[in-house]
Amino acid sequence: MRGNLTNYGDAEFALFLRKAFIKGAGYTDDALERTVVGIVNTGSGFNPCHGNMPQLIEAVKRGIMLAGGLPVEFPTISLHESFSYPTSMFLRNLMSMDTEEMIRALPVDAVVLIGGCDKTVPAQLMGAASAGKPAIQLVTGSMLTGAHRGRRVGACTDCRAFWGSYRGGEIDGAEISEANGNLVGSVGTCSVAGTASTMACLAEAAGIALPGSATPPAVTADRMRTAELTGRRAMEMAEEGLTVDRILTEEAFENALRVLLAVGGSTNAIVHLAAIAGRLGIAVDLDRFDEMSRQTPVLVDLKPVGDHYMEDLHKAGGVPRLLHELRDLLNLDALTVTGRTLGQELDLAQPPFPQSVIRPRTEPVHPVGGIAVLRGNLAPNGAIIKQAAASQDLLEHRGRAVVFEDSADLATRIDDEDLDVAPDDVLVLKNIGPVGAPGMPEAGYIPLPKKLARQGVKDMVRVSDGRMSGTAAGTIVLHVSPEAAVGGALRYVRTGDVVRLSVSERALELEVPDEELRRRAEAAPAVAGETSGRGYRKLYVEQVTQAEEGCDFRFLQAESERGSVPRPQ
Ligand code: FES
Ligand code: MG
Repeated sequence: MRGNLTNYGDAEFALFLRKAFIKGAGYTDDALERTVVGIVNTGSGFNPCHGNMPQLIEAVKRGIMLAGGLPVEFPTISLHESFSYPTSMFLRNLMSMDTEEMIRALPVDAVVLIGGCDKTVPAQLMGAASAGKPAIQLVTGSMLTGAHRGRRVGACTDCRAFWGSYRGGEIDGAEISEANGNLVGSVGTCSVAGTASTMACLAEAAGIALPGSATPPAVTADRMRTAELTGRRAMEMAEEGLTVDRILTEEAFENALRVLLAVGGSTNAIVHLAAIAGRLGIAVDLDRFDEMSRQTPVLVDLKPVGDHYMEDLHKAGGVPRLLHELRDLLNLDALTVTGRTLGQELDLAQPPFPQSVIRPRTEPVHPVGGIAVLRGNLAPNGAIIKQAAASQDLLEHRGRAVVFEDSADLATRIDDEDLDVAPDDVLVLKNIGPVGAPGMPEAGYIPLPKKLARQGVKDMVRVSDGRMSGTAAGTIVLHVSPEAAVGGALRYVRTGDVVRLSVSERALELEVPDEELRRRAEAAPAVAGETSGRGYRKLYVEQVTQAEEGCDFRFLQAESERGSVPRPQ
């Protein structure tokens, strides 16, 4: 058991004591002299997305022992999207700190990070990047799809569709509760291209997870074999000293950004990639990301942009097949956890076979990338839209703003029969940004006013400083920066103002003269964060950065800058 010793002022005594304690667990000297691979256990009774954790840990251990190492598991915080008050995003940085400090504290020579649900993989990669030891990501894998009255369903694009039908009066209370029991077919992460699936694909594309490891569903033999192989490889990485910074380079982040676009993946991933990269001194340049988006078609036909589910993507060849289609756009020299480059891995991958989930470049699902970056007086530091999941007829739109000051105001008024709102208005929600809520909730998917939903309105332009779930669809502008709570222009939008969205011009404009905006700002200045309060919430509000910087804490970011991605072409 190498590694840092607890400080008692006498190093030899510290080692003696450590050995005495661990021997209490029945280890032999032979076991304790082996290379130690830590396994980060994020199982929790409140996290069904990680419900296969015991089996995964057993398989990882088998792999480590087959390679001659000693596996030792240890827990960190677990985050499930639905059991993380106030939001999982609020707790992501806490999980990253837990992960970083435990990797540093324990005498592990390498770690296997087992995560899956949306914020867990980002938190683990942020922590491991800062901790600086060899680390490999293993995801828990996607859930199986279910069936509702003959229709195939999966969480949680279909959760939203059913809820929308219920709100619109198309299905009744009995049916919605029946659907509730059918949406999640097994343990595992959401079965569409939500944040969990997206981050799984990006971890593989960035080379920090084994080739082919992103897509096997949670309950399959492929998933368990992936776990065994991950354990085996972690052991070898420990001996080679293959640390995270050698894998998560600018080249690797560019590959991940490219795959994010080609998957039509979750908008949250851009925030998470910025946070992970920020731990290594690499900034994400949103304008160059937008240029990359113009040259990267969506190739994967997955919900919510397309029609399929993760298990279909797996059967179609998974991420290796997608990388094969994107080959000329990738940095093939990027090193992966296997010790080989991405290009070498692609040469080893199975030959392409006919399938219909991953399209060739000549027949994309969407001709350009899934995400576009907007700017304008309403979002001087940027905003994003998942254009591939938007209504094409709303991508160029001018409309009257109908403003909600915060989530509580929205909840009170959105379904009010007297709400003055028309289908071509723009719904604006303030104060759901990183500081505003705090924790940047996924409330950017503003529900359509009930009275319009009943009239059959399916989509409206919506604008906020919040996020939305990767499983959601609609013409929804997110991550407006700076956010309302810190004095961004969004703070000063009033009902009746005109908002102009032009995705072709990448513009988000508030058609109010600068002078008037200045007057409004002087009349209602922003108070910089909450200064009262205590504990983690106080730390969060004081330290959290804006969306384009990843919503990490300032003090957790790397001290010096190494570069930015995508790099200029
Ligand atoms: Fe865990 Fe969707 S709720 S992945
Ligand atoms: Mg989600």
